[in-house]
Amino acid sequence: MQGTNDVVVLRLGHRPGRDERMTTHVGLTARALGADRVVIAGEAAEPASTIEGVVERFGGPFEVSVVADHGGVIRAWDGAVVHLTMYGLPIHEVAADVREAHDASPLLVVVGSEKVPFDVYEAADHNVAVTSQPHSEVAGLAVFLDRLFEGRELDRDWRDATHQVVPQATGKRVEPVEGDAGERPPE
Ligand SMILES: C[S@@+](CC[C@H](N)C(=O)[O-])C[C@H]1O[C@@H](n2cnc3c(N)ncnc32)[C@H](O)[C@@H]1O
Repeated sequence: MQGTNDVVVLRLGHRPGRDERMTTHVGLTARALGADRVVIAGEAAEPASTIEGVVERFGGPFEVSVVADHGGVIRAWDGAVVHLTMYGLPIHEVAADVREAHDASPLLVVVGSEKVPFDVYEAADHNVAVTSQPHSEVAGLAVFLDRLFEGRELDRDWRDATHQVVPQATGKRVEPVEGDAGERPPE
């Protein structure tokens, strides 16, 4: 089900072993920076379970799903489709159009892994570049979401967390959300 202003990240072509950490980081970045859901195309049980573990511990709402192929997700999408690619139009030139599209409908944000099939370029309403230089889907996604939400994602409220980080000038502090004592942070 899609909500009117949902932002869903579609991660293409996950391959077990090779892309495990990048796929996990795409999901964690999507969650941390304001998206509602990540859909991973490929065999991604391990990244999906790592992302779900973070949602259980540090909160949501955020959903994770795994599909065999990206094609059906894009075809069934009822809203605007953004594809992040170094070959697209510069984000600072198209951000206002993308924000307008997101005001009107849910947004699907597609990120690749290796070679992205050309049908994705054609299916996208906006092919968006975060510079015209090659880098990473995690970096591209982070800059894109920040431009989309114009920084508001940094103040987001989290629900149903068991733990929260208490910001410190120095050191690390993690507390149970409804508990008494702080706990030792993971090393
Ligand atoms: C390591 S790149 C590989 C891209 C692949 N060589 C191709 O031509 O489709 C993986 C993903 O990172 C994202 N990406 C890399 N550089 C980008 C950029 N400058 N702007 C936006 N997204 C970028 C894209 O989503 C891309 O599919």
